[in-house]
Amino acid sequence: MNRLRRLRATPAIRDLVAETRLDASKLVLPIFVHDDITEREALSSLPGHYRWPSAEVGEIAKEAEAVGIQAVLIFGVPSSKSLDRAYASDGPTQRAIQAIRSASPSLAIFADTCLCSFTETGHCGIVRDGAIDNDESIEMIARVAVSQAKAGADFVSPSDMMDGRVGAIRSALDAEGLPTAGILSYAAKYASAFYGPFRDVAESTPMFGDRRGYQLDPRSSEQGLRSIERDIDEGADMVLVKPALSYLDVIARASERFDVPIGAYNVSGEFAMIKAAAERGWLDEQAATTEALTAIFRAGARFVITYHALDIARLMHER
Ligand code: PBG
Repeated sequence: MNRLRRLRATPAIRDLVAETRLDASKLVLPIFVHDDITEREALSSLPGHYRWPSAEVGEIAKEAEAVGIQAVLIFGVPSSKSLDRAYASDGPTQRAIQAIRSASPSLAIFADTCLCSFTETGHCGIVRDGAIDNDESIEMIARVAVSQAKAGADFVSPSDMMDGRVGAIRSALDAEGLPTAGILSYAAKYASAFYGPFRDVAESTPMFGDRRGYQLDPRSSEQGLRSIERDIDEGADMVLVKPALSYLDVIARASERFDVPIGAYNVSGEFAMIKAAAERGWLDEQAATTEALTAIFRAGARFVITYHALDIARLMHER
């Protein structure tokens, strides 16, 4: 008899033959920073997460580093809607980058590069006569990216899904003497229902319409692959598939096809589902989180941006 169970007989054998292994150095912790608060504020829709004042955000960076996390992704939220706060040298994102850089010099710092928290409309681009002006938007997004790189971000991370933004950002960074700043592009970003908790936190819910005119249609994987290919051609150093759990097929196809690191964004709604079910006693949080993250890596992700990062890293650190 072909006894396949031999490979599953004991913990030692199972660990030996396992193909994937969770590792804190593969997790990226998202961090929210608000322009004018003086104390951290707990986020009810993202349990365990806070909005940080830039003066204190170094604390969470150090905490992450202490349990083996080596990368963070920063989201700046302004106190009033205005595009100049997106690129100001003392804007929320820029100040947070500087604070984290001085608290934890060796952390890799990614900055989310988008306009949606800063526009009155809540859209990821600039609206003119009721429509998003793609080409005006990418000029502004490039300007934001340059300011983030100047503040010290290792990688800028455009999440707007406008056409041509990666090329525009690469040219702007090079022209400004920032050739070592990298680009992690949210290349296959889908128009998803799983961003709900994030939009509350980032105050970025669109005032009218939705994002289906720029984010990808969930019914298509080929558009995701084309979008990744295009962004690589324009100079993306790494790319993301987002969300993660409903798009494992896209992660798998992309990681087979392209020779750049494919990351995955395990988004706010995916986190919220596990948290809420665990709170009700319907799921074991640790087991469900471990399984979900393992699945994303098994599909082919090289790293995962996740709100579970600290919990899981702490757990692995204790073992
Ligand atoms: C901003 C942005 C979004 C997320 C990351 N960057 C929201 C959106 O596109 O509406 C979602 C993150 C999450 O849900 O965790 N463009």
